[in-house]
Amino acid sequence: MTRSPAPRVRVFPTLEALTEEAARTLRRDAAAAVTRRGRFTLALVGGQTPEVLYRLLGAAGPRALPYPRLEIFWSDERAVPPGHRDSNYRLAWEIWLSRVPVDPRRVHRIRGEEGPDAAAARYERELRRTLGIPPRLDLILLGVGRDGHTASLFPHAPALRSARLVEAAVAPASPRKRVTFTPALIGAARRVLVLAAGREKARVVERALAHPPSDTVPASLLRGRNVSWLLDRAAAARLVRGHE
Ligand code: 6PG
Repeated sequence: MTRSPAPRVRVFPTLEALTEEAARTLRRDAAAAVTRRGRFTLALVGGQTPEVLYRLLGAAGPRALPYPRLEIFWSDERAVPPGHRDSNYRLAWEIWLSRVPVDPRRVHRIRGEEGPDAAAARYERELRRTLGIPPRLDLILLGVGRDGHTASLFPHAPALRSARLVEAAVAPASPRKRVTFTPALIGAARRVLVLAAGREKARVVERALAHPPSDTVPASLLRGRNVSWLLDRAAAARLVRGHE
């Protein structure tokens, strides 16, 4: 991820307003990508914040996005089968993707049930095969955890310095075995949208955006020109004014 001192940050009054902006960005980028390249390559993420976006899109009907032209990936996954309650694939599939006309051959889930190393190696091959060279996604969705993690890049993880696209990862809490995009792949994306909402995120958002970037707070590495942070007011509470 390219490091820049001035990340793009937008603050919205509520999680709902932030989510609507994320949906608008998806629609705009998808339309532009389909016009230019015939498809829209998108990576989803787990967590409660994007869940609101997935529900909104799940209710928005079959034409809200050019679904048959979407190539869908996941930025991270837990090493569990697809039906497991901790599966990031299951979350997006149940409340959104199963309700819209996606092409099942273009829904690329991480095979967490194969174990993190095998799943990461297989996913890297799948990404390279689908995206070509250089492997560049149109849009990657990410969240931020209170300990500073993003995707499944946890503080000081070896994956932060990896030249690969996908790595096996270990989380400090259950489910511990994970698979994650690396900064190398995230940094190459045309756009990265980081979604964070709620008072409990205020401190980590401050550490990620107002302090020097460091491996202690992996989300602080999300500062490239391709990155936009969408925050609600509560998550932005500790940032100095001027980002709105
Ligand atoms: C995961 C996520 C993770 C998430 C953050 C924020 O699989 O858990 O990919 O990186 O985005 O933990 O999660 P919330 O949106 O629930 O705060």
